[in-house]
Amino acid sequence: MIIIPHPKTVEEMIDCAGPIECELLPRLIQVTEAAAIAAAHQMGRGNKSFADQVAVASMRRMLNKLDMKGIIKIGEGERDEAPMLYIGEQVGTGKGNLEVDIAVDPLEGTNLAADGGPGSVAVMAMAERDGIFHGPDIYMDKIVVGPDVVRYEMDHPDERIDLDAPVKHNLEIVAKALGRDIDELVVVILDRPRHAQKITEIREAGARVRLVTDGDLMPGVATAVRGSGIHVVMGAGGSGEAVLTAAAIKILGGKILARLVLPTVANGKTKDKINEEIEEKMPRLEKMGITLKNLNDVLDTDKLVPGKDVIFSATAVTPGHFLREVHLFGGGDARVHTVSMGASGAVRFTDSIYIKDKHETPLYL
Ligand code: FBP
Repeated sequence: MIIIPHPKTVEEMIDCAGPIECELLPRLIQVTEAAAIAAAHQMGRGNKSFADQVAVASMRRMLNKLDMKGIIKIGEGERDEAPMLYIGEQVGTGKGNLEVDIAVDPLEGTNLAADGGPGSVAVMAMAERDGIFHGPDIYMDKIVVGPDVVRYEMDHPDERIDLDAPVKHNLEIVAKALGRDIDELVVVILDRPRHAQKITEIREAGARVRLVTDGDLMPGVATAVRGSGIHVVMGAGGSGEAVLTAAAIKILGGKILARLVLPTVANGKTKDKINEEIEEKMPRLEKMGITLKNLNDVLDTDKLVPGKDVIFSATAVTPGHFLREVHLFGGGDARVHTVSMGASGAVRFTDSIYIKDKHETPLYL
Protein backbone atom coordinates (compact mmCIF):
# COMPACT_ATOMS: atom_id res chain seq x y z
CA MET A 1 0.00 0.00 0.00
CA ILE A 2 1.34 3.42 -0.90
CA ILE A 3 0.51 6.18 1.58
CA ILE A 4 0.58 9.61 -0.03
CA PRO A 5 1.35 12.31 2.53
CA HIS A 6 -0.68 15.47 2.18
CA PRO A 7 0.17 18.78 3.85
CA LYS A 8 -3.42 19.30 4.98
CA THR A 9 -6.03 16.93 6.33
CA VAL A 10 -9.42 16.95 4.67
CA GLU A 11 -10.88 18.72 7.70
CA GLU A 12 -8.14 21.37 7.62
CA MET A 13 -8.80 21.88 3.92
CA ILE A 14 -12.55 22.33 4.37
CA ASP A 15 -12.51 24.39 7.57
CA CYS A 16 -12.70 28.18 7.38
CA ALA A 17 -9.63 30.37 7.76
CA GLY A 18 -11.10 32.59 10.46
CA PRO A 19 -14.26 33.96 12.04
CA ILE A 20 -15.13 36.20 9.08
CA GLU A 21 -15.11 33.28 6.68
CA CYS A 22 -17.01 31.07 9.18
CA GLU A 23 -19.68 33.56 10.10
CA LEU A 24 -19.99 36.05 7.27
CA LEU A 25 -19.22 34.19 4.05
CA PRO A 26 -22.63 32.46 3.86
CA ARG A 27 -24.25 35.85 4.49
CA LEU A 28 -22.06 37.60 1.93
CA ILE A 29 -23.51 35.37 -0.76
CA GLN A 30 -26.98 36.62 0.18
CA VAL A 31 -25.79 40.22 0.05
CA THR A 32 -24.50 40.01 -3.53
CA GLU A 33 -27.51 37.93 -4.54
CA ALA A 34 -29.93 40.54 -3.26
CA ALA A 35 -28.11 43.29 -5.15
CA ALA A 36 -28.00 41.21 -8.32
CA ILE A 37 -31.72 40.39 -8.22
CA ALA A 38 -32.58 44.05 -7.62
CA ALA A 39 -30.39 45.07 -10.58
CA ALA A 40 -31.77 42.28 -12.78
CA HIS A 41 -35.25 43.79 -12.54
CA GLN A 42 -33.75 46.89 -14.20
CA MET A 43 -31.68 44.95 -16.76
CA GLY A 44 -32.00 46.25 -20.31
CA ARG A 45 -34.10 49.26 -19.35
CA GLY A 46 -31.42 51.69 -20.48
CA ASN A 47 -31.13 53.44 -17.12
CA LYS A 48 -27.74 52.61 -15.62
CA SER A 49 -28.03 55.03 -12.70
CA PHE A 50 -31.31 53.55 -11.56
CA ALA A 51 -30.04 49.98 -11.96
CA ASP A 52 -27.05 50.95 -9.82
CA GLN A 53 -29.22 52.76 -7.29
CA VAL A 54 -31.46 49.76 -6.60
CA ALA A 55 -28.46 47.43 -6.34
CA VAL A 56 -26.80 49.79 -3.86
CA ALA A 57 -29.94 50.14 -1.75
CA SER A 58 -30.53 46.41 -1.67
CA MET A 59 -26.91 45.62 -0.82
CA ARG A 60 -26.97 48.16 1.98
CA ARG A 61 -30.21 46.80 3.47
CA MET A 62 -28.75 43.27 3.49
CA LEU A 63 -25.45 44.44 4.96
CA ASN A 64 -27.27 46.17 7.78
CA LYS A 65 -28.81 42.86 8.82
CA LEU A 66 -25.39 41.34 9.53
CA ASP A 67 -24.02 41.16 13.06
CA MET A 68 -20.73 42.98 12.63
CA LYS A 69 -19.06 46.35 12.91
CA GLY A 70 -18.41 47.04 9.26
CA ILE A 71 -16.71 49.97 7.58
CA ILE A 72 -16.94 50.59 3.84
CA LYS A 73 -13.36 51.02 2.53
CA ILE A 74 -14.13 50.73 -1.16
CA GLY A 75 -17.58 52.06 -1.92
CA GLU A 76 -19.77 54.17 -4.10
CA GLY A 77 -17.64 57.28 -3.66
CA GLU A 78 -16.97 59.96 -1.11
CA ARG A 79 -19.60 60.84 1.47
CA ASP A 80 -20.60 64.08 -0.25
CA GLU A 81 -21.24 62.38 -3.58
CA ALA A 82 -22.69 59.00 -2.56
CA PRO A 83 -25.64 58.86 -0.17
CA MET A 84 -25.25 55.13 0.46
CA LEU A 85 -22.26 52.81 0.86
CA TYR A 86 -19.90 55.76 0.76
CA ILE A 87 -16.28 55.35 1.83
CA GLY A 88 -16.21 55.39 5.62
CA GLU A 89 -19.88 54.47 6.13
CA GLN A 90 -20.47 52.13 9.04
CA VAL A 91 -22.67 49.16 8.26
CA GLY A 92 -23.96 46.11 10.12
CA THR A 93 -25.95 45.84 13.34
CA GLY A 94 -22.90 46.73 15.44
CA LYS A 95 -23.51 43.55 17.46
CA GLY A 96 -20.89 40.86 18.03
CA ASN A 97 -17.11 40.96 17.89
CA LEU A 98 -16.50 41.01 14.16
CA GLU A 99 -14.82 44.20 13.01
CA VAL A 100 -14.60 44.14 9.26
CA ASP A 101 -13.42 46.20 6.33
CA ILE A 102 -15.65 46.04 3.29
CA ALA A 103 -15.21 46.63 -0.43
CA VAL A 104 -18.37 46.83 -2.53
CA ASP A 105 -19.35 47.20 -6.13
CA PRO A 106 -23.12 46.61 -6.02
CA LEU A 107 -23.33 46.79 -9.79
CA GLU A 108 -20.08 46.37 -11.68
CA GLY A 109 -20.77 47.15 -15.32
CA THR A 110 -23.69 49.56 -15.05
CA ASN A 111 -23.76 50.14 -18.83
CA LEU A 112 -23.73 46.40 -19.44
CA ALA A 113 -26.71 45.90 -17.14
CA ALA A 114 -28.60 48.84 -18.64
CA ASP A 115 -28.05 47.48 -22.16
CA GLY A 116 -28.66 43.85 -21.24
CA GLY A 117 -25.12 42.99 -22.35
CA PRO A 118 -22.94 40.29 -20.76
CA GLY A 119 -20.60 40.81 -17.83
CA SER A 120 -22.44 42.79 -15.13
CA VAL A 121 -22.15 41.50 -11.55
CA ALA A 122 -22.81 42.42 -7.94
CA VAL A 123 -19.53 42.07 -6.05
CA MET A 124 -18.25 42.37 -2.54
CA ALA A 125 -15.27 41.47 -0.35
CA MET A 126 -14.58 41.63 3.37
CA ALA A 127 -11.58 41.21 5.64
CA GLU A 128 -10.62 41.97 9.21
CA ARG A 129 -10.11 45.65 10.20
CA ASP A 130 -7.35 47.29 8.12
CA GLY A 131 -7.46 44.28 5.82
CA ILE A 132 -8.58 46.26 2.76
CA PHE A 133 -6.81 49.21 1.10
CA HIS A 134 -8.29 52.53 2.07
CA GLY A 135 -8.01 54.40 -1.17
CA PRO A 136 -9.70 56.97 -3.34
CA ASP A 137 -12.17 56.35 -6.09
CA ILE A 138 -9.90 57.11 -9.07
CA TYR A 139 -8.19 54.70 -11.51
CA MET A 140 -5.57 52.04 -11.03
CA ASP A 141 -3.29 50.87 -13.80
CA LYS A 142 -2.72 47.17 -13.30
CA ILE A 143 -1.62 43.76 -14.43
CA VAL A 144 -3.38 40.66 -13.13
CA VAL A 145 -2.15 37.07 -13.52
CA GLY A 146 -2.99 33.67 -12.08
CA PRO A 147 -1.21 31.33 -9.65
CA ASP A 148 0.94 29.64 -12.33
CA VAL A 149 2.82 32.91 -12.70
CA VAL A 150 3.29 33.23 -8.95
CA ARG A 151 4.75 29.71 -8.83
CA TYR A 152 6.98 30.47 -11.83
CA GLU A 153 8.32 33.60 -10.09
CA MET A 154 9.12 31.58 -6.96
CA ASP A 155 11.16 29.15 -9.06
CA HIS A 156 12.76 31.93 -11.15
CA PRO A 157 13.38 34.88 -8.80
CA ASP A 158 15.01 36.90 -11.60
CA GLU A 159 11.98 36.71 -13.82
CA ARG A 160 9.10 38.71 -12.40
CA ILE A 161 6.20 40.56 -13.92
CA ASP A 162 6.69 44.28 -13.58
CA LEU A 163 4.15 47.06 -14.11
CA ASP A 164 6.87 49.28 -15.60
CA ALA A 165 8.41 46.67 -17.89
CA PRO A 166 7.58 46.45 -21.59
CA VAL A 167 4.39 44.49 -22.28
CA LYS A 168 6.44 41.82 -24.08
CA HIS A 169 8.55 41.11 -20.97
CA ASN A 170 5.43 40.39 -18.92
CA LEU A 171 3.82 38.28 -21.61
CA GLU A 172 7.00 36.21 -21.99
CA ILE A 173 6.89 35.38 -18.28
CA VAL A 174 3.19 34.49 -18.35
CA ALA A 175 3.73 32.31 -21.43
CA LYS A 176 6.61 30.44 -19.81
CA ALA A 177 4.63 30.01 -16.58
CA LEU A 178 1.71 28.52 -18.48
CA GLY A 179 3.89 26.40 -20.76
CA ARG A 180 2.54 28.16 -23.86
CA ASP A 181 3.75 30.43 -26.59
CA ILE A 182 2.86 34.11 -26.37
CA ASP A 183 0.54 33.73 -29.35
CA GLU A 184 -1.53 31.31 -27.26
CA LEU A 185 -2.22 33.94 -24.59
CA VAL A 186 -5.39 36.02 -24.32
CA VAL A 187 -5.13 39.45 -22.69
CA VAL A 188 -8.26 41.30 -21.58
CA ILE A 189 -8.15 45.07 -21.64
CA LEU A 190 -10.80 47.79 -21.57
CA ASP A 191 -11.52 49.20 -25.02
CA ARG A 192 -10.49 52.79 -24.34
CA PRO A 193 -8.40 55.29 -26.36
CA ARG A 194 -5.99 55.45 -23.37
CA HIS A 195 -5.07 51.83 -24.07
CA ALA A 196 -4.30 52.21 -27.78
CA GLN A 197 -0.54 51.98 -27.29
CA LYS A 198 -0.78 49.03 -24.91
CA ILE A 199 -3.12 47.15 -27.25
CA THR A 200 -0.64 47.65 -30.10
CA GLU A 201 2.20 46.38 -27.90
CA ILE A 202 0.22 43.29 -26.85
CA ARG A 203 -0.57 42.48 -30.49
CA GLU A 204 3.00 43.13 -31.59
CA ALA A 205 4.22 40.76 -28.89
CA GLY A 206 2.01 38.13 -30.52
CA ALA A 207 -0.73 37.70 -27.91
CA ARG A 208 -4.42 37.85 -28.66
CA VAL A 209 -6.52 40.67 -27.23
CA ARG A 210 -10.04 40.55 -25.93
CA LEU A 211 -11.36 44.10 -25.76
CA VAL A 212 -14.16 44.68 -23.28
CA THR A 213 -16.40 47.73 -23.39
CA ASP A 214 -16.81 47.64 -19.60
CA GLY A 215 -16.14 45.38 -16.65
CA ASP A 216 -12.49 44.55 -15.98
CA LEU A 217 -13.04 43.07 -12.50
CA MET A 218 -14.25 39.55 -13.25
CA PRO A 219 -11.78 39.01 -16.11
CA GLY A 220 -9.07 39.68 -13.50
CA VAL A 221 -10.53 36.95 -11.28
CA ALA A 222 -10.73 34.68 -14.34
CA THR A 223 -6.93 34.80 -14.80
CA ALA A 224 -6.74 32.55 -11.74
CA VAL A 225 -9.21 30.06 -13.17
CA ARG A 226 -7.79 27.51 -15.62
CA GLY A 227 -10.07 27.01 -18.57
CA SER A 228 -11.48 30.54 -18.41
CA GLY A 229 -9.58 31.44 -21.57
CA ILE A 230 -8.19 34.60 -19.94
CA HIS A 231 -4.50 34.69 -19.02
CA VAL A 232 -3.74 38.33 -18.26
CA VAL A 233 -5.68 41.53 -17.57
CA MET A 234 -3.94 44.83 -18.22
CA GLY A 235 -4.74 48.53 -18.29
CA ALA A 236 -6.25 51.30 -16.21
CA GLY A 237 -9.73 50.87 -14.75
CA GLY A 238 -11.56 51.78 -11.56
CA SER A 239 -9.47 51.59 -8.38
CA GLY A 240 -12.35 49.91 -6.53
CA GLU A 241 -12.52 47.23 -9.20
CA ALA A 242 -8.77 46.63 -8.78
CA VAL A 243 -9.08 46.21 -5.01
CA LEU A 244 -11.99 43.79 -5.39
CA THR A 245 -10.00 41.85 -7.99
CA ALA A 246 -7.13 41.73 -5.49
CA ALA A 247 -9.36 40.16 -2.83
CA ALA A 248 -10.36 37.27 -5.10
CA ILE A 249 -6.95 36.89 -6.67
CA LYS A 250 -5.31 36.71 -3.23
CA ILE A 251 -7.66 33.90 -2.21
CA LEU A 252 -6.98 32.05 -5.48
CA GLY A 253 -3.19 32.46 -5.27
CA GLY A 254 -2.74 34.81 -8.23
CA LYS A 255 -1.15 38.22 -8.31
CA ILE A 256 -2.03 41.83 -9.10
CA LEU A 257 0.31 44.81 -9.41
CA ALA A 258 -1.43 48.17 -9.48
CA ARG A 259 -0.75 51.89 -9.32
CA LEU A 260 -3.16 54.71 -8.59
CA VAL A 261 -3.58 57.11 -11.46
CA LEU A 262 -5.74 60.18 -11.86
CA PRO A 263 -8.29 59.76 -14.67
CA THR A 264 -7.17 62.98 -16.36
CA VAL A 265 -3.62 61.65 -16.50
CA ALA A 266 -4.65 58.18 -17.71
CA ASN A 267 -6.93 59.66 -20.35
CA GLY A 268 -4.26 62.07 -21.64
CA LYS A 269 -6.12 65.29 -20.78
CA THR A 270 -4.54 68.73 -20.97
CA LYS A 271 -2.20 70.07 -18.27
CA ASP A 272 -4.95 72.44 -17.10
CA LYS A 273 -7.44 69.61 -16.65
CA ILE A 274 -4.82 67.54 -14.81
CA ASN A 275 -4.04 70.46 -12.48
CA GLU A 276 -7.75 70.97 -11.87
CA GLU A 277 -8.12 67.35 -10.86
CA ILE A 278 -5.02 67.49 -8.65
CA GLU A 279 -6.41 70.57 -6.91
CA GLU A 280 -9.81 69.01 -6.45
CA LYS A 281 -8.73 65.52 -5.37
CA MET A 282 -5.36 65.79 -3.61
CA PRO A 283 -6.71 67.21 -0.33
CA ARG A 284 -9.01 64.15 0.00
CA LEU A 285 -6.26 61.77 -1.07
CA GLU A 286 -3.87 63.26 1.46
CA LYS A 287 -6.33 62.43 4.24
CA MET A 288 -5.93 58.81 3.15
CA GLY A 289 -2.13 59.09 3.29
CA ILE A 290 -1.72 59.45 -0.47
CA THR A 291 0.51 62.29 -1.60
CA LEU A 292 1.87 63.34 -4.99
CA LYS A 293 5.08 61.63 -3.85
CA ASN A 294 3.64 58.17 -3.19
CA LEU A 295 0.73 58.30 -5.67
CA ASN A 296 2.84 56.42 -8.20
CA ASP A 297 3.96 53.64 -5.86
CA VAL A 298 3.28 50.12 -7.10
CA LEU A 299 0.77 48.34 -4.89
CA ASP A 300 0.91 44.55 -4.84
CA THR A 301 -1.79 42.07 -3.84
CA ASP A 302 -0.93 42.27 -0.14
CA LYS A 303 -0.89 46.08 -0.15
CA LEU A 304 -4.33 46.16 -1.75
CA VAL A 305 -5.71 43.46 0.52
CA PRO A 306 -3.46 42.96 3.56
CA GLY A 307 -6.16 40.96 5.38
CA LYS A 308 -5.79 37.28 6.29
CA ASP A 309 -9.46 36.39 6.77
CA VAL A 310 -10.58 37.56 3.33
CA ILE A 311 -13.90 36.62 1.73
CA PHE A 312 -15.33 37.45 -1.69
CA SER A 313 -18.64 36.94 -3.46
CA ALA A 314 -19.85 37.81 -6.96
CA THR A 315 -23.34 37.20 -8.36
CA ALA A 316 -23.96 37.66 -12.06
CA VAL A 317 -26.68 40.04 -13.18
CA THR A 318 -26.16 39.31 -16.88
CA PRO A 319 -24.26 36.25 -18.21
CA GLY A 320 -20.58 36.47 -17.53
CA HIS A 321 -17.28 34.81 -16.85
CA PHE A 322 -18.18 31.38 -15.45
CA LEU A 323 -21.50 32.70 -14.04
CA ARG A 324 -25.04 32.43 -15.36
CA GLU A 325 -27.34 35.44 -15.34
CA VAL A 326 -30.23 36.06 -12.93
CA HIS A 327 -33.37 34.32 -14.09
CA LEU A 328 -36.59 36.01 -13.03
CA PHE A 329 -39.59 33.73 -12.87
CA GLY A 330 -43.22 34.69 -12.49
CA GLY A 331 -44.34 36.20 -9.21
CA GLY A 332 -40.92 37.65 -8.34
CA ASP A 333 -39.11 34.34 -7.88
CA ALA A 334 -35.48 34.38 -8.93
CA ARG A 335 -32.64 32.00 -9.67
CA VAL A 336 -29.12 33.29 -9.17
CA HIS A 337 -25.60 32.04 -9.75
CA THR A 338 -22.79 33.08 -7.44
CA VAL A 339 -19.12 32.37 -6.99
CA SER A 340 -17.92 32.87 -3.42
CA MET A 341 -14.64 32.13 -1.74
CA GLY A 342 -12.74 32.46 1.50
CA ALA A 343 -9.10 32.61 2.59
CA SER A 344 -9.17 28.89 3.43
CA GLY A 345 -9.29 28.26 -0.31
CA ALA A 346 -12.93 27.12 -0.31
CA VAL A 347 -14.56 28.21 -3.56
CA ARG A 348 -18.28 27.67 -3.99
CA PHE A 349 -20.48 28.01 -7.01
CA THR A 350 -24.02 28.34 -5.74
CA ASP A 351 -27.13 28.08 -7.83
CA SER A 352 -29.98 29.36 -5.67
CA ILE A 353 -33.68 29.66 -6.25
CA TYR A 354 -35.66 32.06 -4.11
CA ILE A 355 -39.41 31.49 -3.96
CA LYS A 356 -41.43 34.52 -2.99
CA ASP A 357 -44.72 32.78 -2.40
CA LYS A 358 -44.58 29.00 -2.15
CA HIS A 359 -48.37 28.67 -2.56
CA GLU A 360 -48.39 30.88 -5.63
CA THR A 361 -45.47 29.54 -7.69
CA PRO A 362 -44.02 26.06 -8.03
CA LEU A 363 -40.28 25.40 -8.05
CA TYR A 364 -38.82 25.79 -11.53
CA LEU A 365 -35.75 23.96 -12.75
P1 FBP B 1 -19.31 50.95 -13.65
O1 FBP B 1 -19.90 49.68 -13.14
O2 FBP B 1 -19.12 51.94 -12.56
O3 FBP B 1 -20.09 51.45 -14.80
O4 FBP B 1 -17.81 50.60 -14.12
C1 FBP B 1 -17.56 49.83 -15.25
C2 FBP B 1 -16.11 49.89 -15.64
O5 FBP B 1 -15.98 49.44 -16.98
C3 FBP B 1 -15.17 49.09 -14.76
O6 FBP B 1 -15.19 47.70 -14.93
C4 FBP B 1 -13.85 49.70 -15.11
O7 FBP B 1 -12.85 49.42 -14.16
C5 FBP B 1 -14.19 51.16 -15.21
O8 FBP B 1 -15.59 51.21 -15.55
C6 FBP B 1 -13.43 51.89 -16.26
O9 FBP B 1 -13.74 53.24 -16.19
P2 FBP B 1 -13.94 54.15 -17.49
O10 FBP B 1 -15.29 53.80 -18.08
O11 FBP B 1 -13.91 55.53 -16.94
O12 FBP B 1 -12.84 53.84 -18.41
